[in-house]
Amino acid sequence: MKKICLKDKEFELFIPEKEVLAAIERIAVEIKRDMDGKNPLFVGVLNGAFMFIADLMRRLDGSYELTFARYSSYRGTSSTGTVKEILPLHPTDVEGRTVILLEDIVDSGFTMSYVMSKLREQGAAEVKLATMLFKPDALKCDLKPDYVGIEIPNEFIVGYGLDYDEMGRAYRDIYKIVE
Ligand code: IMP
Ligand code: MG
Repeated sequence: MKKICLKDKEFELFIPEKEVLAAIERIAVEIKRDMDGKNPLFVGVLNGAFMFIADLMRRLDGSYELTFARYSSYRGTSSTGTVKEILPLHPTDVEGRTVILLEDIVDSGFTMSYVMSKLREQGAAEVKLATMLFKPDALKCDLKPDYVGIEIPNEFIVGYGLDYDEMGRAYRDIYKIVE
């Protein structure tokens, strides 16, 4: 079993790149089908989704508009999360548009719940969520991603854009923590 070390933690191979790319291929087909005749605005959520964004957009291979946003979520001991907008979207960009968020992973769901309701407040006609990975057992919000790459158990993972303390984003495969 392939293993990597990041700082004080050990991780083992969990999802090889090939499986990730097959899931993205499927999402691309679904989005193409659903967006036929529409003019969606794709919003890539930095930093974690950078590989997903690139691999998905190149498979969509069309005249789509893409922009980026960045958020950071701080969680206290309570079950409510507060989300900070580090690179916000301009409200006029989303008005009347079908917006498709591209996220790396949905865990508690706080970040995407916040962002999706904010976009609706700003007048987006429709807000959809495409996430590469989804931990359904960790979900604490009323949120249902429209496009899901791979569902995973509630475990901490790195690679394919995801980090542990900013480390591990550049691995092409996905690794899970060894407890
Ligand atoms: P949520 O608001 O709890 O859904 O958290 C979403 C964000 O937390 C994601 O965009 C990731 O940046 C980060 N995150 C959640 N789970 C993991 C993980 O297993 N590894 C690395 N980052 C994660
Ligand atoms: Mg993220």
